[in-house]
Amino acid sequence: MLSVTETQFVEFSPALIAKFDDVVSRYPIGKQKSALLPILHLVQAEYGWISAPAMDKVAQYLEILPIEVYEVTTFYTMYFTRPTGKFMLEVCRTGPCCLVGAEKIMKHIENKLGVREGEITPDGLFSWRGVECLAACGMAPVLQIGPEYTFYENLTEESVDQLIENLKSNSLQN
Ligand code: FES
Repeated sequence: MLSVTETQFVEFSPALIAKFDDVVSRYPIGKQKSALLPILHLVQAEYGWISAPAMDKVAQYLEILPIEVYEVTTFYTMYFTRPTGKFMLEVCRTGPCCLVGAEKIMKHIENKLGVREGEITPDGLFSWRGVECLAACGMAPVLQIGPEYTFYENLTEESVDQLIENLKSNSLQN
């Protein structure tokens, strides 16, 4: 994953542009704006988040106004407009999950990682945040981790500890 600062100029690679072109080709000519959401996902997969310069470049590529990209990027919570850890643990904090301990799980994650919601651990590996219903209420409490949005269900403090340790050791191997 490439890293980029909040103001750093972004130059998309030819490989990434080729992926954009492929997405745009699925829409009628002149309707390239329809490709905005999948293209933003591609940018996020490349950099881990979507900076303002990256939004500007997307606007330039799609021949739309930068504000059209900003309003989409800031509306949908699946797009990160600030840097995150390599693994973003998104814990459902909606009613059914809270009834079976989501708040306790979030507090446990905060203590375990030593960072508050939205912050990044010093090793750059982890961030966490609360999110709204992940549509897996029957397996509450639940968290997901992108970019594949893998679900971890029926969470306990012990299973969260195990998950974090597994992610750490997998990260060391890769
Ligand atoms: Fe947590 Fe629905 S309330 S998945």
